[in-house]
Amino acid sequence: MKFFVDTAEINAIKEFAATSLLDGVTTNPTLIMKSGGTHEDVIAEICQLVGARPVSAEVISTDIEPMFNEGKQLAGIASNVVVKVPLTWNGLRVCENLSREGIPVNVTLCFNANQALLAAKAGAAYISPFIGRLDDIGLDGIDLISDIREIYDNYGFTTQLLAASVRSPHHVTQCALAGADVATVPPSVLRKLCDHPLTDIGLASFLADAARARPA
Ligand code: E4P
Repeated sequence: MKFFVDTAEINAIKEFAATSLLDGVTTNPTLIMKSGGTHEDVIAEICQLVGARPVSAEVISTDIEPMFNEGKQLAGIASNVVVKVPLTWNGLRVCENLSREGIPVNVTLCFNANQALLAAKAGAAYISPFIGRLDDIGLDGIDLISDIREIYDNYGFTTQLLAASVRSPHHVTQCALAGADVATVPPSVLRKLCDHPLTDIGLASFLADAARARPA
């Protein structure tokens, strides 16, 4: 499973981009707003930081023509931009048109399997089901990941299943078990993936024993 970091914080992206564990970045208008920068400048800086790795940049237009033009503009920022469009009929039309021009599209705000099926048929490079937001309303976001996996495999769709709105290390494990191609994870959760108290205790004890075993 690939790991994308879900943030527009430049310092966090720098931290993870230095490792081969990071496979890409996703942003959204809220994350860009929190970063304090302007949309195109932030996207350009992120793209430059991560080399060839894909960076999802979201449109804010909702009508077909302005959304398409905005998508083209975002794609012009760097060759690794993936244009993110909402899962609406207009978004699906724009997905089709941009994909036909060779521009990869991430269809976002997916909350059910039919939406994911439509996105795959529209040629999406990625589908983003938001698991945390489903959990927030008392549903099970991971069930959706499993359903989409099964449907895409039934028909051989190559759209990558990108689990979004990931809120915990447990979500990450569940996404991997359910066969997500990618999990996009906030920096705070990514940092926790390596942690286990028994690792810390074990390491402290090995180091103490190594010091004791050293010849005087
Ligand atoms: C996905 O691309 C979104 O940026 C993100 O995962 C949304 O997560 P949230 O529901 O925690 O805001």
